[in-house]
Formats: sequence, C-alpha cells, structure tokens
Amino acid sequence: MRSDLTEVASTYMSLKRRGRNMVGLCPFHGEKTPSFNIYTENNSFYCFGCGAGGDVITFIMKIENLDYIEAVRFLAQRAGLSMPENNYDDSMMQLRKRIYEANRSAARFFHNVLYSNEGRAGLEYLYSRGLTDKTIRHFGLGFAPDNRFALSNFLRDKGYRENELVQANLVYKNKSGKGTNDRFYNRVMFPIIDVRGNVIAFGGRIMTDQKPKYLNTSDTPVFKKSGNLFSLNNAKKTTDRTLILCEGYMDVIAVNQAGFENAVATLGTALTSEQAVLMKRFADDVIICYDADEAGQKATQRAIDILRKAGLNIRILTVPQGKDPDEFIRKQGSNGGAAFYNLVKDSKNDVEYRLNKIKSKYNMKVADQRVRYLNEAIKSLSSLEDDIEQQIYASKLADETGVQKESILSSLRSFRRKNERNQEKKIQRQMYADLSGRDDKINPQHRSEPKATNAEEMLISLVINHPDIASYVYDKITEKSFVTDFNMKLYGYIMDRIERGYEPLTSAGEDFTQDEISKIYGIAHRTITAKVSKELVDEYIKIILQEKNKVNKEDFKSLTPEEMREFIKKQRERRE
Ligand code: GTP
Ligand code: MN
Repeated sequence: MRSDLTEVASTYMSLKRRGRNMVGLCPFHGEKTPSFNIYTENNSFYCFGCGAGGDVITFIMKIENLDYIEAVRFLAQRAGLSMPENNYDDSMMQLRKRIYEANRSAARFFHNVLYSNEGRAGLEYLYSRGLTDKTIRHFGLGFAPDNRFALSNFLRDKGYRENELVQANLVYKNKSGKGTNDRFYNRVMFPIIDVRGNVIAFGGRIMTDQKPKYLNTSDTPVFKKSGNLFSLNNAKKTTDRTLILCEGYMDVIAVNQAGFENAVATLGTALTSEQAVLMKRFADDVIICYDADEAGQKATQRAIDILRKAGLNIRILTVPQGKDPDEFIRKQGSNGGAAFYNLVKDSKNDVEYRLNKIKSKYNMKVADQRVRYLNEAIKSLSSLEDDIEQQIYASKLADETGVQKESILSSLRSFRRKNERNQEKKIQRQMYADLSGRDDKINPQHRSEPKATNAEEMLISLVINHPDIASYVYDKITEKSFVTDFNMKLYGYIMDRIERGYEPLTSAGEDFTQDEISKIYGIAHRTITAKVSKELVDEYIKIILQEKNKVNKEDFKSLTPEEMREFIKKQRERRE
C-alpha cells in the first residue's frame, strides 16, 4: 500500500504546486505564509517554519493524533484495503480502544442515571439552567451519582480492568493503595466527543458553590485537553465554515439551544495554537464570544493573536449586561435566539475591537489625549499585513482625529519597516542558532560538535536520497566512527535498512519518536536536489574521521597517565 501524500494532505489543507513540490500553510503550527512543503518525488513533507517532517504515515499520526499502527490502519481503511496481518506491538492501540469503549459506557451510564431516581438532583439542576430534554439528549449529558464506587462497579461488571479505568482517568487509586475511587461523583456530566465521534473525556460540574466548580478528565492516552474542543463534533457538521468560540460548556450548550450549532469551547484552559489550527480545518471565520468580565476580555486579546496566526478571520461578539452568553440568552426567554443573532450581526472584527479598546482609555475631546490615542492606534495597526486594511483604518483614524490620512499612512509605514527589521533580525538569530546547534534537542552534541554534526548530517542525507552509494560509503566509514550519538544511531539504522533491501525511511515512524522523525526528514531534505559525487562524499567522511580523532579537552583531563602515553603513541603513528 502506498498512499499519495499530496492526495491525503489535501483533505486537511489547501496546497499549491510550486515546481515539483506542493506548498501550503502548515497544519501543525499557525502561520500566514506557507512554509509547509510536500516533496512529490519521495512522498514526504517538511515544514521550514516548525520543523515538522515525515512521510504520509507520520502526517496522519500527527494530524489525527494516532500512533503508528493506528495511522497505518487509518490509511488502509481510507484506501479501502483491510489491514495486513502483522506482528507489530499493538498494546498501546489496544489500550486506547479499551479507553474509548470504557468512556462510551461511562457516558451511557451517566446519562441513564440522570433520568433515574438517583439522578433527580442533576436533572433538576439542568432544568433550572434552562435546558430542555432535547438539548440534554443531544449533548448526552449525565449525572455521576453521589457514591465513589458507582461507576467503577458498573464498569468492572462489564469486564474493564482496574488499570484500564485508571489510565482512562475515570477512577484513581485511593491513598491506602487498595481500591479505587471514581474521579467523578455527585456532578452533572458533560461528555467530550472528538471529531471522529469518540468519547474522549468528561467535564463534571458541581451543583453547589463548592470548588472546583468544574472537574475535567486529565490527559490520557486518548485525550489531550490542549488539542481538543468541546462540541466540535456538532459544529463541524455546519456548512458555513464559521465557529463561535465560547468560554465554557454551558455557554456552548445555551448557544446551541438558541439555534447555533457551530459553538465550541476550550476544555478548561486558555486557547492554544493547536486548537486554532484544528479550528482552521473546519472554519475560516471565528466569532469570539467570551465573558464580558475583565478575565474574559484579557482572554479575548490572547485569542485574537492566536487565531490570527492560524489564518482565521476574527470577529468579537460583545455580550451586553449579564456575565456570559448563557446568562444573556436565558434572560431573553423565548427571544433568546433572535437576541443572540443580533449580537452576532453586531460583532466587530478584531481591528475595530482593538481600536475601540484603545479609544475607551482616552477622552477624545481633549487634544492631547486624541494624539495619544492616534499614536497607540497606529502602533496597533502597523501589525496588519494587508495594505487595503491599513488604508481603510487610516481613513477611519483620520476622520476621528482630524489628522491627515497621508501623514497617518506615512507613520504607519515607518512602524511597519521597524517591525520588518525586527523580524529579519529574529530570523537571522534563528538561522544562526540552527547552524550552531544551540537549540538542537534531538542531538544535544550538535552544539559542542557543530562541524562533525554537519558533516554527519550531510552524509546521512546523501545516503538517504541515493541509497545506491550506501555500500561505497559504508566501506569507508561505519557508525562506530560517528561523533554524535544520535547520528551514529541513525546512520546505523539507515545502513541496516538499505542492506536488507528496504527504503531507508519507510518504517522510521515505528522506530523513532515524532520529534526525531521531524529532525530526520529535515536532514533528508538538505540534499534532496543535490547531485552526489565521490568527491563530496569523501569530503564529508574525511571531516567526520578527523573530528572523531580529535580528543576534546574534557576527555583529555580524565585520561590516566597510561592512557595518555597510549594516546600520544597513537597520534605519532597516525602522523607517520
Ligand atoms: P457555569 O457557572 O456553569 O455557567 O460555568 P461557566 O462556563 O460560566 O463558568 P466559568 O466562566 O467560571 O468557566 C468557564 C470554563 O472554565 C468552564 O466551562 C470550565 O471548562 C472551566 N472551569 C471553570 N471552573 C473550573 C474549575 O474549577 N476547574 C477547571 N479545571 N476548569 C474550570
Ligand atoms: Mn456561566
């Protein structure tokens, strides 16, 4: 089976042809100019922005959050093939499967309890918050009974082992180390469902003023709270590529009940760029709909920056009076839907929102304060990259302050040049850091051995792209002569693969971590278009051997007198 990376990737992102490659906005980090490349000649990708790289399997692992074997299976199913029999170690996949099933059973359990005697308090609570049975069913809401063993007894009867339930974070070992306690009890339960329909986690709300108000599932093998969104499974079904981003579960549910299915919320933490990139898969526009309080406004500022970086258009919905969207909608009674729709219509884009924020700090009747408003506004606008946008807001500022549009524009331009210079400096520093290996986390010896590391990487790169030279190279240098441990391992691995008649990197996803894979593909791409020659190869080998023979000061210090004599003898022999 060989899935075409371009074809697979284009279901997640838009790609443009550039020469022999395909380029697009990287789905793994937020960016506005494309640095994500697909190399069609070897079906691989590399992003120059974030350093993510790999083959089609790695791509699926990263974007679908799967492990290696699950990604292979995913691609097989996608291609309409059944999974080949294999002897992979799939214990992790088995565990994940069990956790998904346990979570689904737990969600059913909580939901059934809600509509039983034991769940009456929970149901009353949800009614008191204005939810209808239809909404409760739609979200699969439930109730965890006031009993620390109810869920675990239920799931054990269904055959789940303690370890599975602990790993699912549905129960935790109690202090005595003997049994387990349920993580959730006496709480109203909100199941969290991913875009493929799996129940991946829960949020549970206490019905009193006690703390913590909400308890969420911690990260598990199937759940990463920074990479998922509540109700995205519902929102992704809507067709207009717009999402409403709320702060909490109850806001999302209230907005849904008012007729807007496209609401989502983060899972008890601040918005991350991973979530923004996830949103970009389903939307072009995001309406931020956070609480009207100060914390909500701060969070809005942060969200604007993160969403913009992911290439999303932003609007900000301001909830008048009342604290949050849920309360607003409820206060409107049967008019909730229409009232909320008016807020959506009145929502301002992020630039207007920022300008209004700045303006609210100054008294526009006082000349001196108008000037300060103008300066701060210009600084804020200078981060806009779109010329037309800058023109529009320069006109607006000119109207507001009576300053000529031309001088506002010229001041904007000079701010922008300054930003650009800072940007260039940043890129230069990054390039320098890359070369020096200062930030190389995969190969920490890069920093102290830049020369050797570079030669090793170039040699490995040439072998990956031209496996036919492998035996020539291996005759001259084995992994034992490599200086840095990571490259030593990688070189040995690649040579072994080639010797056994495989493509050097086809199963690397199984044998290296994702960060290592990205690094390896980064290395591979360094010579993807290079011509290979005997002289070039020999030169890199020479450098590696030379560097290997250099004894660095630290080694020297630790030599015994005897080893020292031995070393000097060797050096002499080498010169003769
Ligand atoms: P309600 O009071 O039920 O309307 O909730 P809310 O959404 O108005 O609450 P709030 O604005 O306080 O919180 C917003 C979101 O933050 C919630 O939906 C939770 O996801 C999260 N959150 C709130 N309180 C806690 C807490 O005590 N612990 C954790 N982990 N998350 C919380
Ligand atoms: Mn609320």
